[in-house]
Amino acid sequence: MQIKTFHFMKNLNKNISFLSYKYLGSSLILLQSTPRKLRAFCAKLKMAANNLCSLLVGTILVIAAIHFNGINALSSNYYDQTCPMAESAVTNAVKKAMLNDRTVPAALLRMQFHDCFIRGCDGSVLLNSTTNNQAEKDGPPNISLHAFYVIDNAKKALEAMCPGTVSCADIVALAARDAVVLSGGPNWAVPKGRKDGRVSKASETRQLPAPTSNISQLQQSFSQRGLSMEDLVALSGGHTLGFAHCSSFQNRIHNFATTQDVDPSLHQSFATSLRSVCPMHNTVRQAGANLDSTPTIFDNRYYKLLLEGKSIFTSDQALLTNPTTKTLVEKFGNSRDEFEKAFVESMIKMSSIGGGQEVRLNCRVVN
Ligand code: HEM
Ligand SMILES: *[C@@H]1O[C@H](CO)[C@@H](O)[C@H](O)[C@H]1NC(C)=O
Ligand SMILES: *[C@@H]1O[C@H](CO)[C@@H](O)[C@H](O)[C@H]1NC(C)=O
Ligand SMILES: *[C@@H]1O[C@H](CO)[C@@H](O)[C@H](O)[C@H]1NC(C)=O
Repeated sequence: MQIKTFHFMKNLNKNISFLSYKYLGSSLILLQSTPRKLRAFCAKLKMAANNLCSLLVGTILVIAAIHFNGINALSSNYYDQTCPMAESAVTNAVKKAMLNDRTVPAALLRMQFHDCFIRGCDGSVLLNSTTNNQAEKDGPPNISLHAFYVIDNAKKALEAMCPGTVSCADIVALAARDAVVLSGGPNWAVPKGRKDGRVSKASETRQLPAPTSNISQLQQSFSQRGLSMEDLVALSGGHTLGFAHCSSFQNRIHNFATTQDVDPSLHQSFATSLRSVCPMHNTVRQAGANLDSTPTIFDNRYYKLLLEGKSIFTSDQALLTNPTTKTLVEKFGNSRDEFEKAFVESMIKMSSIGGGQEVRLNCRVVN
């Protein structure tokens, strides 16, 4: 059997971390070994204490199994040894940016959604276009994407502290969590260890769900990424923060259908006010509407307004067209606590969609 050296650093549980192992033999062969084969292997090594050898090999097997299963597994203590200040550096960058611009949290939350839905959470949304490639951020649904500088500032601080260690994709995940917390929403431990991708294509942003989507299109888009109807309803609650441009909900307020100019599911005076801000031939580029009446506070107001016909997108309204999702909207509208619990669970799920392979040094360019 060929002698191989295998180093790896892997967070094993909450407390044991930073293990570096060297072991004999091909781990794949070891993984398939039966106890009989193990004894033979130990005998071959001519170790006096055969039992001790079995124990040793057994331990290696368990570790190898964890390693192979969890090759891309994330963990909340991923940077505890390599960059203990990672989280506070990101939080500082988010806080600082928020002081000057209250729209930053909404931007960061949406950034994570766009990142994870295209090629997994791999920081592909951060890459700049190049002469030969139009990147995601220059794709058609980029209209509200901004605040990339916050990620750059966090990355700069992190490169000074622990170079080449913290992925841009992890920074996006941490910044999204901070955005929620700093807007009065729930806190949670962010699993980390994502890698950054090397590809970003504007054309792929077509795979994002559209604001005009109906419930089956939304369900399909989410289930393709391993996300359920409950995830769909909980994550749509992200629309408790931020703003939409007229073009994103124009379909509901002008020429909705051949017989109805306005979506009849919209509350009448609410529709009137949207139409006054967004006339048919709108020329004000920045015109639009807040996604709920408290657009900088992370609360469950979005669901309450949705039940009153005061949602912004067709995709929001669609959540009331299916009994399962409608029941969830009512539940989250009635209980901020239930919403927050579900939102955290679904954010962790969404932000675990795998993707990249490197730790970028500059979030805007591949290594
Ligand atoms: C269910 C499918 C979804 C659709 C169709 C959708 C669509 C949109 C659209 C069209 C905008 C406005 C863009 C503009 O006009 O400026 C927007 C804004 C926003 N979305 Fe979603 N979204 C979805 C899910 C999510 C999820 C899962 C999150 C995060 C958990 C999220 C968070 C946000 C936030 C925070 C904003 C406001 C951004 C800002 O003000 O800068 N959305 N969304
Ligand atoms: C990426 O693009 C932005 C905006 O176009 C530009 O300001 C920045 O210098 C670019 N960064 C890199 C590293 O190419
Ligand atoms: C969105 O894409 C357009 C080109 O399609 C580009 O001019 C614009 O700068 C992009 N916006 C952002 C925020 O990257
Ligand atoms: C949703 O839209 C698609 C495409 O237009 C259509 O085929 C489907 O029947 C619609 N589903 C519902 C529930 O309206």
